Amino acid sequence: MSAVVPQPVVARLTRAAIFLVVRINPGKDSENAVRGLCALLSALLRAVGFRDPEARLSCVMALGSDAWDRLFGDPRPKYLHPFREIHGVHHAVSTPGDILFHIRSVRMDLCFELASQIMSRLGKAVTAIDEVHGFKYFDDRDLLGFVDGTENPSDQDAVDATTIGQEDPAFAGGSYVITQKYLHDLQRWNAISTSEQENIIGRHKLSDIEQDDAAKAPYAHNVLTTVVEDGEQLEIVRDNMPFGEIGKGEFGTYFIGYARSPHRIEQMLENMFVGRPPGNYDRLLDVSRAVTGALFFVPSATFLDDVSPEDNDAAAASGEAPVCAEQRGAGSSDTARTYPPVNDGSLGIGSLKQEGEP
Ligand code: HEM
Repeated sequence: MSAVVPQPVVARLTRAAIFLVVRINPGKDSENAVRGLCALLSALLRAVGFRDPEARLSCVMALGSDAWDRLFGDPRPKYLHPFREIHGVHHAVSTPGDILFHIRSVRMDLCFELASQIMSRLGKAVTAIDEVHGFKYFDDRDLLGFVDGTENPSDQDAVDATTIGQEDPAFAGGSYVITQKYLHDLQRWNAISTSEQENIIGRHKLSDIEQDDAAKAPYAHNVLTTVVEDGEQLEIVRDNMPFGEIGKGEFGTYFIGYARSPHRIEQMLENMFVGRPPGNYDRLLDVSRAVTGALFFVPSATFLDDVSPEDNDAAAASGEAPVCAEQRGAGSSDTARTYPPVNDGSLGIGSLKQEGEP
């Protein structure tokens, strides 16, 4: 049996990203269009990414709990469930979302092109419910002025932190991802002294050097997000991005965290919103409000490639290959795929017409 290839969860951090969350519209046609996209995604990524390989275009497609049941049913990833809201000192809301596309590149135009290609394939099958275009601020800082991402695990440590293994063999090579869109009250943040800001984050602002453990406030962000179980630090891979609309006065951080189980991210959230011990909460939340919250499962790239555009019931009735050949232990399916009509590109360059065409 060939090895399972994960999606590019541990892609290197980039300077631009699009976070696109969509709802799958009612009806079997919508579900079939999404299945069709699953199998086509790697080809779209290759085609757009090939225009500038050095721009490191990548895309992760992830599915919410309800979407999984609609599209694939059983077996389902062991720990997939809707995002659990938290009522602590602050409130972590749970908001809808069937599919997350996390598109990264050093060039925003490539992200934009891939997102356009994906959405034109999906057509009326989905409705976009949240779209954030993120950018890295000076020196990889967030809009609060701190460098964000420094303590991310790298190389094999990142793979180990994010890739499901034998704890759920049917979904080995997959991951979980939690997203939250935070809006900052920058006026309030900027009124806080730099030394207190540093206590809130647990690092020095200019140098990005971590404070000594003994000097850290008990509520420091990097204290509350350190989770140790059975003597092991449970790590996650983050790729947060600043975003904003100056005219609207909207400034934020899009939090995205990948892990091999949602539990470790949920524990960090509990520590931040309720506090560890309760009441010793993350002071970042006094100035940053979570306005979305969602949990998704990231199937392996091998799983997506093998998805058949036909739905389970229809396949069973016709005796054809099931939805995902790999997951159900059968060989790969080459069923012909049909997709909604699409435009050949998002911009003027995609509007090339044959001579004589209207
Ligand atoms: C407003 C939203 C957030 C902002 C602005 C933010 C910012 C930061 C910054 C500046 C750091 C220090 C540098 C680094 O290691 O990356 C950091 C570290 C970290 N953050 Fe966040 N963060 C946010 C939300 C979250 C959330 C929701 C989680 C988890 C549920 C989280 C988990 C972590 C972890 C695990 C670390 C590394 C801690 C360590 O080992 O030192 N962050 N964050």
